[in-house]
Amino acid sequence: MNETILILDFGSQYTQLIARRVRELNVYCEIHPFNKIPEDLSDVKGVILSGSPFSVRDSESPVPDLSNIRKKFPLLGVCYGAQFLAQDNGGEVLPSKIREYGRANLGFIDYDSLLLRGMTHNSQVWMSHGDTILNLPDDFNIITSTESVKVAGFKVDNEETYGIQFHPEVYHSTEGSILLKNFVVDICKCSQDWTPDSFVETTVTALKEKLGNDKVVLGLSGGVDSSVAAILLHKAIGKNLYCIFVDNGLLRKNEFEDVLHSYKDLGLNVKGVDASDRFLDGLKGVEEPEAKRKVIGNTFIDVFDHEAHLIQDVKWLAQGTIYPDVIESISVKGPSATIKSHHNVGGLPDFMKLKVVEPLNTLFKDEVRRIGRTMDMPSFILDRHPFPGPGLGIRILGEVSRERVKILQEVDHIFIQGLRDDNLYNEVWQSLAVLLPVNSVGVMGDERTYENVVALRAVGSTDGMTADWSHLPYEFLAKVSNKIINQVKGVNRVVYYISSKPPSTIEWE
Ligand code: XMP
Repeated sequence: MNETILILDFGSQYTQLIARRVRELNVYCEIHPFNKIPEDLSDVKGVILSGSPFSVRDSESPVPDLSNIRKKFPLLGVCYGAQFLAQDNGGEVLPSKIREYGRANLGFIDYDSLLLRGMTHNSQVWMSHGDTILNLPDDFNIITSTESVKVAGFKVDNEETYGIQFHPEVYHSTEGSILLKNFVVDICKCSQDWTPDSFVETTVTALKEKLGNDKVVLGLSGGVDSSVAAILLHKAIGKNLYCIFVDNGLLRKNEFEDVLHSYKDLGLNVKGVDASDRFLDGLKGVEEPEAKRKVIGNTFIDVFDHEAHLIQDVKWLAQGTIYPDVIESISVKGPSATIKSHHNVGGLPDFMKLKVVEPLNTLFKDEVRRIGRTMDMPSFILDRHPFPGPGLGIRILGEVSRERVKILQEVDHIFIQGLRDDNLYNEVWQSLAVLLPVNSVGVMGDERTYENVVALRAVGSTDGMTADWSHLPYEFLAKVSNKIINQVKGVNRVVYYISSKPPSTIEWE
């Protein structure tokens, strides 16, 4: 198994970022809620306590049981984690007199402390706390201070236990990664061998062992996660992996054929199933966005269930679940409220009774891409913009018809191809075209027209949770909008959509 840094989460918005930074050092880490510390700590080399929206002074504040951790592993408390350690051992934590948010500088650094080795005098750090440690317990020593925060960091005598009141994981702590490296490499003695290559090797070996000669079924979507999961499984079990790629009639222009071909080129045992009529017939008369999602989701389940049944003796269902989905489902805060139902509801179909294998469930999205690259997967698959499961179905506002799918496919194709041609495709995180449910008056030649309006959208984002509109060049927008109006029959107006998320969302439905 991997040498592991255990991160105990107290609900901070930055917890995932700590994990990202540790993994950037090629050290494996896992986030667990503070009150669900794993029993088996045999792979653990060190522990980090995260920040929290709570104050240690609240009666409801999260209190971890560190009896199996303290003095047994190197320990680093960040912000709330540091304040908890101080208070729990008899120190004093009180509300800060002055605001301690934003940039500060480490004016005092104890260079004998291994944690701070290599950091420069006045190094910039990021503070974000309403409380501050006023007095430390006797055996706790200050190792760094800022002008307004005397106890910016401490170490406990005779043990590798540290606390810092700033956030080393955020970008604005310019030498934060030096500190984290000091902790995980020099103090915890992790060997930094968790690389994409080693991940592929150990995962493939583990999958071989787990799956033996069993058959596995996997639904490919054309997206990065299911594709990388498929290639890993293919390396492990070859033809025993049965992939199913469903055409729901709501894919981009030529996407079904193009993606199917590239899967076949990769050697996958993949069956393309054209179920577009079923989906489009099912959507007749359905206008409400969530109702559309349900029709599409349920039809997918029916089609997939039928196809999975055709594979004799299949034992496993493989899924491309990634780590943020796992963290979300076990988080301290609980699964967040559903704004759009991205997952299906309803009765359990037969294929869901299969055993589940999720080879990517410890990885973040960009790590999935890195793994894909080390396995030589083509950029055509790895660098694609995210595309929602219900596809163009939620980009045709109101009722979906074959004719409207065709119009939107043409518009979308011109837009996406234009982005590629002008080297803008990789500059934006996601791009899309939306067919609005209104007609507008135009003039073409001497003719009055009364036709569709389309909206184009391109956004920058890191995870789709928040997003800002991309400032695409005016010349580009002029060029593609002209091309769309000239080439797509039925469209006489193009608008560019400039709301950010929040308060808007990325999709329109
Ligand atoms: P929103 O519109 O919620 O989108 O800002 C955030 C990200 O999620 C994608 N999205 C979906 N993906 N099924 C999916 O698989 C869905 O029903 C769905 N709705 C939105 C959206 O494309 C964006 O990347």
